[in-house]
Amino acid sequence: MRLDDISRVNLTTLPTPLEEAPRLAAKLGLRKLLIKRDDCTTLAGGGNKARKLEYLMADALARGANVILTDGGPQSNHARMTAGAARKVGIDECILFLGGPRFDRFYGNLLLDVVLGADIRFMEDASVKDMEKAMIAEAEKLIRNGKSPYVIPIGGSTPLGSLGYVCGIRELAEQLSEEDKAPLVFVPVGSAGTMAGCVLGLKLFLPEAELIGISVARKSKPLRKIAAEHATEAAKLIGADESFSPDDLVINDEYYGTFYGVPTECGNKAILTAARTEGLILDPVYTGKAMSGLIDLAKTGAIDNDRTVIFIHTGGAPGLNAFEDQFRNLAKFESVDYKKESKQ
Ligand SMILES: Cc1ncc(COP(=O)(O)O)c(C=O)c1O
Repeated sequence: MRLDDISRVNLTTLPTPLEEAPRLAAKLGLRKLLIKRDDCTTLAGGGNKARKLEYLMADALARGANVILTDGGPQSNHARMTAGAARKVGIDECILFLGGPRFDRFYGNLLLDVVLGADIRFMEDASVKDMEKAMIAEAEKLIRNGKSPYVIPIGGSTPLGSLGYVCGIRELAEQLSEEDKAPLVFVPVGSAGTMAGCVLGLKLFLPEAELIGISVARKSKPLRKIAAEHATEAAKLIGADESFSPDDLVINDEYYGTFYGVPTECGNKAILTAARTEGLILDPVYTGKAMSGLIDLAKTGAIDNDRTVIFIHTGGAPGLNAFEDQFRNLAKFESVDYKKESKQ
């Protein structure tokens, strides 16, 4: 296997911590719950994309790229981290095609995009197809102008990017004690690249584990197809003799609500539960929805209590700041009139 022969740049300090969450476990009736803290990658506010970008940026540099292009929603963690990664490897031009609802404030990830100096192209209500078309057109224009662009598809989800999570799972396997080596692993699924890497990584390094993806945006069937294809292609890249079919994969699509990026009531409740048991910060778009799946499955007895449960915390907290409207009614807040009292 050639995993360590594929070029990779260093974008984050690794390993990320693996922490036990005993108070949350007790609340859910689980024997043992571990959180893989990939929200703590050290690149530009952290999150899962650092691992994928280590491979994608190495490829960009090898091809002599001097402009990076990618796409996502206005609150995309992937876009923010790509802007950070470009800076960290010394590529000063990063163009972000952001499609979604109109916004009137630069907050959350968008604010970080601005701080990182990304060139933002806003495409109101655009689909992923619209954004990919616009990116390709821009890349062609850049080539005509003598530049060398490198296009990263939405979420950084390519077989090459997925290798980040093959390494992530190898790292997790090294952190686990023998008694925890047949865990039930939960991961949020957006563009499915993280899932693809986990599928291959678990097959190679933790073969007794079981993986449950929780979709944050779409029905299970197309996601399982993408993840199986990427995992199979990723296996070829590293010379591993593994292939996957969509039927091998489990992605639960009962917890994403109506649409990508639209919070759910149970996702918001999961955010509060994690914060108020473990001081753990999740977000409404990815990790809150995924945790709501874990919580519901635990509470309804669908999780075998003898198994260690692992939640891969993929990050997203910078985006939480864009959802003040969901939580502000909970504020325990009062203004203390200390100036009047000190005058008496
Ligand atoms: C915080 C967070 N969690 C999970 C995901 C999902 O990862 P993937 O797109 O690889 O499925 C993303 C993707 O942007 C993310 O930003």
